[in-house]
Amino acid sequence: MKRFSVLLALLAIVLPAQAQLSVSALRTCGLENPQGIDPSEGATLSWILTDSKRDSRQSAYEVTLKSGSRTVWRSGKVESSNSVRVKVPEALSPAKSYSWTVRVWDNHGQVSQPATASFSTGLDAASWKAGWIGTAWEDEHQAHSPIYLRKSIKLSSKPLRAVAYVSSHGIYELSLGGRKVGSDYLTPGWTSYHNTIQYQAYDITSMLKPGANELTALVSPGWYASGLGWGEPDRRLRYGTDLALCCQIELEYSGGRKETVVTDESWEMSLTGPVCEATIYDGETIDPSVPFSWEPARTVPSGSGRLTASSCEPVRVRTVVKPVACITTPKGEKVLDFGQNLVGWERLRIKGRKGQVIKIKHAEVLDAEGNFFDLTLRQAKALSTFVLTGGDDCFEPCHTFYGFRYIKVEGLEGEPDPAAFEAVVADSGFETVGSFESSNALVNQLQSNIFWGFRGNFVDIPTDCPQRDERLGWTGDAEVFFRTAAFNGNVDRFFRKWLRILSDDQYADGQVPCVVPDIFFTQNVGYAAGWSDAATLIPWQHYCAYGDPAVLEACYPAMKRWVDFQLSKCEDYLLNTLAQPFGDWLFWSVDNDTAGVSAITSKHLIAQCFMAGSIDIVARSARLLGKEPEAEFYEGEAAKVRRAFQDEYVTPRGLVSSDTQTAYVLALYFDMLPESLSPVAAQRLVDNVKRYGYHITTGFLGTPHICEVLTRYGYSDVAYKLLLQESCPSWLYPVKLGATTIWERWNSIRPDGSITNGGMNSFNHYSYGAIGDWLYRYAVGIRETSPGYETFEVDPHPGGGFKYMEASTRTPYGKIRVRWEADGDVIRAIEVSVPVGTQALVHCPDGEVRTLGSGNYGFGVELE
Ligand code: BGC
Repeated sequence: MKRFSVLLALLAIVLPAQAQLSVSALRTCGLENPQGIDPSEGATLSWILTDSKRDSRQSAYEVTLKSGSRTVWRSGKVESSNSVRVKVPEALSPAKSYSWTVRVWDNHGQVSQPATASFSTGLDAASWKAGWIGTAWEDEHQAHSPIYLRKSIKLSSKPLRAVAYVSSHGIYELSLGGRKVGSDYLTPGWTSYHNTIQYQAYDITSMLKPGANELTALVSPGWYASGLGWGEPDRRLRYGTDLALCCQIELEYSGGRKETVVTDESWEMSLTGPVCEATIYDGETIDPSVPFSWEPARTVPSGSGRLTASSCEPVRVRTVVKPVACITTPKGEKVLDFGQNLVGWERLRIKGRKGQVIKIKHAEVLDAEGNFFDLTLRQAKALSTFVLTGGDDCFEPCHTFYGFRYIKVEGLEGEPDPAAFEAVVADSGFETVGSFESSNALVNQLQSNIFWGFRGNFVDIPTDCPQRDERLGWTGDAEVFFRTAAFNGNVDRFFRKWLRILSDDQYADGQVPCVVPDIFFTQNVGYAAGWSDAATLIPWQHYCAYGDPAVLEACYPAMKRWVDFQLSKCEDYLLNTLAQPFGDWLFWSVDNDTAGVSAITSKHLIAQCFMAGSIDIVARSARLLGKEPEAEFYEGEAAKVRRAFQDEYVTPRGLVSSDTQTAYVLALYFDMLPESLSPVAAQRLVDNVKRYGYHITTGFLGTPHICEVLTRYGYSDVAYKLLLQESCPSWLYPVKLGATTIWERWNSIRPDGSITNGGMNSFNHYSYGAIGDWLYRYAVGIRETSPGYETFEVDPHPGGGFKYMEASTRTPYGKIRVRWEADGDVIRAIEVSVPVGTQALVHCPDGEVRTLGSGNYGFGVELE
């Protein structure tokens, strides 16, 4: 065995000399230069320091907030290390633009150059004057057709500032003089529409001119009026059958003159136009020759949803992908392959015959024979239909979205020209903050699949699958993936918004719906262990990642109601009275299982573990929020729940009933066992993994934690064997078969190439991708030790023959980067970047654990 001998010199990676102390990445309410933030919530300001000196901390800051040339607030020089969510003490006025400047001092006596950011506020309830205009379809069948609304705005002069505040029942797309306003898609986004409905703000000053300005809005059904859920298309659930627009434009001129334009009956409406049909599941039909039929617009009821400022990043176009191949399948279908399973829509530039109809279907895979396979879409038509004008056409169906790698093109005369097609990739526009790379190409592809699955399923809400007739906010999927998501993307605002919907949609008795937004509102589809626990686990994990107790405070009532509901259903602290719908969903199972190979875990055992975990979180949150008596109460309840678990499910020799990987994983992850039995259960878990030939058998609930539990109990070698397993079931099996996203099932494609159960089999389902958390947190070894990474640990677990691993993630304080190199399972070198204002506990190759302040470091040993 190799042993350490020499500790190599501490290596400083020196930044360019001019860098010194600087301040950047200014964010208002977590967003970059946001438009239309909620004035009543006030502003929080964050920034990131970089410093070429080591061990740096901010010692003071100075912020100046202005509206135009008027100074609204001057903080003065504040002696403070706080650079994250500094609260502006001044109340903000509605419909105003602001700019703020910050400069900072560090503990070395340096001062930064000032940096500036801007934001604007939205309207408060009193400032909304606009009515809702549109149409209430009497017949649900009509509700797949968009409507158009327009107004010609005549301006005597060019305004100094013009902002449009816009919302809709359905998805709106606003244009001025034929140009799209803003770069957001699928607006106003999906919320619990009976409770809240978002609006967005757009600065349209530069788009306006003196004279007539033609303002047009297309409103398509979107999540509001498209049928959602399963079953016959006509019987699917929808929030409403009315399509409507609410728009208010505030204009400011020199000399202080103001003008307001609002949606009212002076607008015109057309029930026909080029976009003839557009729904979430079925796709879009565009026929530019369809004329408008303008008539006076009608006001319609606003509905019960309260207008609220958009609170997270909108859906944006991320990138554009070109086809990599043009295929004629054995059946003779013309198919374009984009080389990547992705989410968005296609763009087609074409010149053809007037009236020629092009149909484009979408699929994630080809079948074993190489034919186009779209059974995984179930009843979603996911069909684009374009009618050509005979001139130069460009079609882009962006009032829907598709999950696809392949498109089948019909109606062309001749072969498809790949140059005419592009795939437009769209998702929630938050920043990518993480990266992971290693010496193993298959694991790198796994990370890529996790990443694409992550982005493709974060389309305004966390969805389960972007291709079929579902695309719902399954709470369980979001819960298992949160930590992986937070390493890879800045999901702070995204999840704040979603958690607010979760609270809105929680039932009065405390049950948390399994999908949020809850489209099953009329059916009262209640809770499920692991799914409903998103109400507790996600706020806590959010707090760990971003460090904002305000999130816990806002979620606390919902968290408490959820655990109280469960406790009220217990008998002697055992939660086995409720039917559990899902359990360890999609665990490994085999047909005709005479040998008992399927890894079935008792659903009640699972529920008991999650209940204990959720109660723990409520207790911890209560303590943090200063609710001591509640903290004590819930701590006591959690202990009783664990006791009941041990009595019911654990033998004196550490067998946890069901005897599956998931049973051990959850019992250990949620600390359900007496201390003396935990190592025994861990050994039993290892034995189980070996019995399955180092294959994973867990479903959605066991998967996120199996490698973590193995590592914590000293079996990272076994975790690596699971990670690197290439045969089914395993993470790398799909990679070996060419997957470019994470699959819904371990065997979505069977080893013989056949596709499992076309009905419920998505090829873009992020849940099993939750292994991503282990890659960052344990394999590379980046773990927060205080909320928001103000302190963190770097504790790598090498193994599996990896020669190196490298990961980075941007925390609220800046970027943490770790790279290690290893010989076998011994680390020989490590590089660490510690952000300004944070402290890291680094497990160095010589066995020392060093406490390091900010800076870039390298440590190494020579091996004998
Ligand atoms: C979804 C899952 C979800 C599950 C719950 C499926 O149809 O796609 O991701 O969690 O149902 O049973």
